[in-house]
Amino acid sequence: MGGHKPIVTIDGPSGGGKSTVSRALAARLGFTYLDTGAMYRAVAYACQQQGIDPLNPAQLEPLLESIRIELRPPAPGEDDVQVLVDGCEVGRYLRTPEMGMLASTVSAQPLVRRKLTALQQQIGAAGRIVAEGRDTGTVVFPEAAWKFFLDASPEVRANRRSAQLRGKGEEVDEQLLLAQIIKRDRDDRERAIAPLKAAPDALCIDSTGRPVDEVIGLMYDRVTNCPCCGSQ
Ligand code: DC
Repeated sequence: MGGHKPIVTIDGPSGGGKSTVSRALAARLGFTYLDTGAMYRAVAYACQQQGIDPLNPAQLEPLLESIRIELRPPAPGEDDVQVLVDGCEVGRYLRTPEMGMLASTVSAQPLVRRKLTALQQQIGAAGRIVAEGRDTGTVVFPEAAWKFFLDASPEVRANRRSAQLRGKGEEVDEQLLLAQIIKRDRDDRERAIAPLKAAPDALCIDSTGRPVDEVIGLMYDRVTNCPCCGSQ
């Protein structure tokens, strides 16, 4: 499967287990983990903070020209990457269901996609990354050697997301979360540019009822034993 560049892409809808799997796979391979969703959330956060209407290009353009987004490895004892917007660490404000919805709206804007796709390609230029998102195998890194598409039923995904949020001490309305997940995925799949979809050369994995370690092991074996690409 895939092209020639030592890049792993993991796309799929929200809550399919992408983040856990991508992080673990990157650590096992010694690759850098690239959380592209965090970048869309960072733009959404900046719009919210600065009172910018993401549907208005005249407001969005100056923001995109000036915004500086940086991703750094997690702080000691933490799981999530650190996200710096204009030099300030804002990661904890980004991982709410509401910011996910706003990120989805923001991500349908061509100006935003152009900016973030270029930034992601710059980060991945040297290879040896595991990129997770919606379009990393189709648009950002079509030349990636290993592509995966990770899916699960909406109920399982809502259930996992609630467990994650509860684990962080947050109160969760699981029915509301399920409705948000269904809407966000539909919007991400149906948008005009770079919609959520599996690359033709991606291996599709349904993680419903599958232990996360099994999914990571399956991907790791693919990457390290790929007969056409050679081992790492
Ligand atoms: O992966 P996530 O839940 O953090 O992503 C938040 C939103 O960002 C998602 O609903 C759609 C958008 N996104 C995107 O359009 N393309 C990506 N490569 C990653 C995320």
